[in-house]
Amino acid sequence: MNEKNSTDRLLERLSQLKRERGAIILAHNYQRPEVQDAADFVGDSLGLSRRAAATDAAVILFCGVDFMAETAAILCPDRKVLVPDIHAGCPLANMITLRELQEWKEKHPDGPVVCYVNSSAEIKAESDVCCTSANAVAVLNSLPPDREILFVPDQSLGDYAAKRSGRNVTLWPGYCPTHHRILTEHIERAKAEHPQAEVVVHPECTADVIALADHVTSTSGMLRVCSESGAGEFIIGTEIGLLHRLRKENPDKKFYPATPLADCPNMKLNTLEKMVWSLEDMQCEIDVPEPIANGARRAIERMLEIS
Ligand code: 13P
Repeated sequence: MNEKNSTDRLLERLSQLKRERGAIILAHNYQRPEVQDAADFVGDSLGLSRRAAATDAAVILFCGVDFMAETAAILCPDRKVLVPDIHAGCPLANMITLRELQEWKEKHPDGPVVCYVNSSAEIKAESDVCCTSANAVAVLNSLPPDREILFVPDQSLGDYAAKRSGRNVTLWPGYCPTHHRILTEHIERAKAEHPQAEVVVHPECTADVIALADHVTSTSGMLRVCSESGAGEFIIGTEIGLLHRLRKENPDKKFYPATPLADCPNMKLNTLEKMVWSLEDMQCEIDVPEPIANGARRAIERMLEIS
């Protein structure tokens, strides 16, 4: 059987299972093209949280990495949240433990804690408010201006949002290994090759890469900027999965990855085959223990009220 037929068969089985299970498929902007195309909704972390909170589907099949599915499970405690691959984790989220955060808070007792959504449910439950790359500046601006703010775990987003908001922010030294693979020399080389192109980067990039950008925003913000801009060419500084939607939604424009090395192996673990298996066997279910879910929900809902 050729590949096209086998993809068609998988897609057919997936829609049949979706109907039988009453399932909705949510996918992050970095997923494989065929996974994005099979989803009911594709978005950034904020959009996915909102979509999860609003769904009345009995089952959410979440194609992203673990903290995203956890967020959906926290917001929808009466729905079943499944992931196609339980090993799709986020190295950035794993760069702080609950114990480390508790010790840090003891050393900085006045600071409200803002946690990036790329964090475990335990970290969210120990924080005052959550944020995503789409609303980090608004979340910092919502806090009292005279207080030291503790930001976990992403130093790059925290630094960018601190500069934009002018707030006094102390940063946890976590980072996204995929975004930190994008270097200034990649941007400079791409600009030399495509002098007309606008540079659009994610705030998880390093400060020196951000300094070379025309636009800094979340993945869905990058989609919006590129579709609204009058420019015809763009250098894209984020995980390369975003290029699929950029090219699909803007067929007349050209998109160049800053580097093909910005490829997150965790995001790519989800496949059509695993999605079918997931709905067939109702695996792997994401279950967040209630006391932790209650604490984390408070931080996420506070964020959703702000932005
Ligand atoms: P967005 O919320 O901008 O989609 O980013 C999520 C993420 O994990 C970036 O690495």
